[in-house]
Amino acid sequence: MPEVTVLPTPKDLEGFDLSGSTAVVIDVLRATSSMAQALSSGCERIIPAKSEEEALALKKNFPEALLCGERRGRKISGFDLGNSPAEYVSSSVKGKVLIMTTSNGTRTIAAAREKGAVEIFMCSFLNLGKTAAVLSQRLLAAERQVPSRKPSLAVICSGSHGEFSLEDFACAGALIERMTGQEGLIKPELTLTESAVEAVSLYRRYNGDIMRILDDSQHGRYLRSIGFGHDLLFCSKVDSLKIVPCLSEAGIVAFQ
Ligand code: MLT
Repeated sequence: MPEVTVLPTPKDLEGFDLSGSTAVVIDVLRATSSMAQALSSGCERIIPAKSEEEALALKKNFPEALLCGERRGRKISGFDLGNSPAEYVSSSVKGKVLIMTTSNGTRTIAAAREKGAVEIFMCSFLNLGKTAAVLSQRLLAAERQVPSRKPSLAVICSGSHGEFSLEDFACAGALIERMTGQEGLIKPELTLTESAVEAVSLYRRYNGDIMRILDDSQHGRYLRSIGFGHDLLFCSKVDSLKIVPCLSEAGIVAFQ
């Protein structure tokens, strides 16, 4: 029976062994929302960078790529795009390679890779249902391949500057609830750790009111205070996207 755990912040990765595990990174506001939107709009792939310096170095190797990302929520000076998902429309990104660096999400993806996760997916409320379906299939496949080994899924919340974020933890709970309650799909029987049970409980306390979750979140309030309130509405559109970003050798692409 696959085990699912939730890491409330990337700090929880310290001392955590991800080797052999499937990981899913959540950064609702806004990296994983922007990634899902960019891939849905037809970008070729997204190369995550841990820093502005790394992004600029990558740009030298991929001069046609768009530089994307934020620091303190605002577009990095000299970059082509910031981190509002609404910027990632097909007229801007279709067919393009993106180099993306953000305060939390891209760093969490790098940390998951460094900790040896065998596959890394990205989830937000936008692609919640599709991510739940893909992860359930991957866990069932892993169980069939090696019945003796218990597959495990680590749901990693990006948080905000190392601290807990309500919206990521609630999204983790929503994802797990979808995986256990899927209609029509063969759903894996899951063993939930205490953090996973708590994430589902938190999500259920909001009765599906995603906008209230984002309005209650500290980062959501900060984004609104600097003029990005429209991003909260955009990031609240549950199941509006049907693709799942996953990390490949070439960068982040839509899982096939
Ligand atoms: C991120 O996406 O890494 C951060 O949460 C910051 C943001 O986009 O505002």
